[in-house]
Amino acid sequence: MKIAMVGSGYVGLVSGACFADFGHDVVCIDKDQGKIDRLHDGVMPIYEPGLAALVESNVKAGRLSFTTSLAEGIKDARAIFIAVGTPSRRGDGHADLSFVYAVAKEIGESLANPAVIVTKSTVPVGTGDEVERILSDSGTSHQFSVVSNPEFLREGAAIGDFKRPDRIVIGTEDEFGQDIMREVYRPLFLNESPILFTSRRTSELIKYAANAFLATKITFINEMADLCEKVGANVQDVSRGIGMDNRIGPKFLHAGPGYGGSCFPKDTLALLKTAEDYDSPTRIVEAVVKVNDSRKRAMGRKVLEALGGVDAARGKKAALLGLTFKPNTDDMRDSPAIAVAQTLTDAGVHVSAYDPEGMELAKPMMPDVVMCEDPYEAIEGADVTVIVTEWDAFRALDLDRVKQLANSPEMVDLRNVYNPEDMRAAGFAYSSVGRA
Ligand code: UGA
Repeated sequence: MKIAMVGSGYVGLVSGACFADFGHDVVCIDKDQGKIDRLHDGVMPIYEPGLAALVESNVKAGRLSFTTSLAEGIKDARAIFIAVGTPSRRGDGHADLSFVYAVAKEIGESLANPAVIVTKSTVPVGTGDEVERILSDSGTSHQFSVVSNPEFLREGAAIGDFKRPDRIVIGTEDEFGQDIMREVYRPLFLNESPILFTSRRTSELIKYAANAFLATKITFINEMADLCEKVGANVQDVSRGIGMDNRIGPKFLHAGPGYGGSCFPKDTLALLKTAEDYDSPTRIVEAVVKVNDSRKRAMGRKVLEALGGVDAARGKKAALLGLTFKPNTDDMRDSPAIAVAQTLTDAGVHVSAYDPEGMELAKPMMPDVVMCEDPYEAIEGADVTVIVTEWDAFRALDLDRVKQLANSPEMVDLRNVYNPEDMRAAGFAYSSVGRA
């Protein structure tokens, strides 16, 4: 089946490459000529493990191609995915749907055969109805159906998540939509990946509810971590102890510096806006957003404490290891590292940093931070070493070398990568999250 993917960013490109790998004939479309040129040269617009190789093999096999022309790209496609960005609208936090609607209009004007138009972009409830209206207003004479098919891909693990999903959610209002979507996902159907068919509005809400729930789970364990520190308990054991209950589950219970990234912060805000518009407050999500926001600066204050308090910290040096919002990505959006670095530089601390992939994007966000070639260069002369993101490269640091290079053997581990007893035995003044 021919599939068109409009928008060749993170979601579009990963989904397009995976569909091609299943044997579909996929065209990825993007307005950005530079991006398409680079994709033709095998250069990925984002860092995602395995993506370059997947794209290369499918291009070679003739199943994956790229174009800037929407009309050309969607020709003969049975399924046309909209996978463009829906950033937070400046000022009010609503999802900005202008790109989605512009693409819908262009699809309507260019449609040359019957097709299903699928929103993969994260869009608020009711967006599918509007896309349908736009397509109808375009005067197209071809049969079409508007479907919602949210993505549940984690950055850094997106290909695995796409190929082995916990579930596929498809929101359709008619049989034409259902039939084509069954065909699109048939390779996964054979793998016995569960497919949930719902109404379009339900499917749109599932996406937000899933992200808000996960954000809540993380925020819950983060607050438990704070309590653990006060009462002398261990949050990792609390996570294990509650996670073994099948009704709770062990995942997304890692305490840390707060969630970041391009999805949870934006989607929780957008859900609050929808709830407000429909006069149906979601107070738990409101609290989650607030608690998570304040946590990021609180992590900076935790580092200041390790430096002896705000006054003593002035003029000292902190080394930040990891800047991206999580490992295996170069994404800096809403990364806790931004607030941590800001809190430290505000207090007159000199900050050096190293991140395996994120420094290029981080640099303009934290102009006062000195970016280093490797972790040890960052640690040289540091009064405190802070693990902000749990990249594998920081899991087995040469601790003797760290002690030798640092001004002081002080470590704040915001991801609980190390074992407190081991660190103390190695001569470190060590603090972490939720472990007294
Ligand atoms: C998230 C969801 O996990 C995906 O299912 C969803 O498709 C995606 O958003 C999206 O809406 O596009 P992602 O933002 O890539 O994926 O990353 P996650 O692995 O979910 O991590 C988000 C944040 O939570 C990170 O800052 C991470 O460090 C933090 N986190 C995660 C914790 O602090 N503790 C945990 O236990 C898990």
